[in-house]
Amino acid sequence: MIERPNRAGIIAALDTQSPEQAEAWAEALAPHIGCVKLGLEFFVANGPQAVARIARHRPLFLDLKFHDIPNTVAGAVRSACALRPAMLTIHASGGAPMIEAARRAAEEAGADRPAILAVTVLTSTSPATLSETGVAGGPAQQVLRLARLALDAGADGLVCAPPEVALIRAAHGASPLLVVPGVRPAGSARGDQTRVATPAETAAAGADWLVIGRPITTAADPASAAAAIAAELAA
Ligand code: C5P
Repeated sequence: MIERPNRAGIIAALDTQSPEQAEAWAEALAPHIGCVKLGLEFFVANGPQAVARIARHRPLFLDLKFHDIPNTVAGAVRSACALRPAMLTIHASGGAPMIEAARRAAEEAGADRPAILAVTVLTSTSPATLSETGVAGGPAQQVLRLARLALDAGADGLVCAPPEVALIRAAHGASPLLVVPGVRPAGSARGDQTRVATPAETAAAGADWLVIGRPITTAADPASAAAAIAAELAA
């Protein structure tokens, strides 16, 4: 399994349908980042072979957020392991049997198996949206409920928003791998992210990996933008 970085590392979110664009980003960013993240947009458009090509540049975070019956998720994890991802995502709300099945399937890949990361509550989910799905209590309460469930069921870590990092560390200590999107360097556009923090703040709260997309990919010089964030984290 991928080693926890000594200090918070950068995962570049390569959100594009274009294999050429993703390849150009991965090549330019490789010296400054720990992993590349490819998600549903790229995977659905281009398939696993294209994912494997991008993953030659840096270790792969495969963010497909599986959520299905345990048998199907186990099969999807086995298929994903052919791409040798360092990390992959499932939804914690799929429940303990699904998470346990994902972990068992990942373990079939041996010592360099992917870390199983459970997505708790999507950062885009508002309190009203959560309540409409029948969940009592606000997002923070639900994040903590799902974090406990996922870690007890064998998830190696969690995907959470910056404000939740300290809450999860307080409840679960240093061991879960925490992977955090919604990171914005000072002065960069929030876009559709609402619960944001800077790279230094997110790292100080206890994140292991920062998932950063548009602040890098829409910069005039993406490699310089990534280098500046890496320098902020090293300071
Ligand atoms: O461009 P930006 O930095 O907002 O990209 C963040 C990345 O993290 C996107 O790929 C987005 O899909 C992903 N993500 C997120 N919130 C989550 C899970 C994943 O923003 N809860």
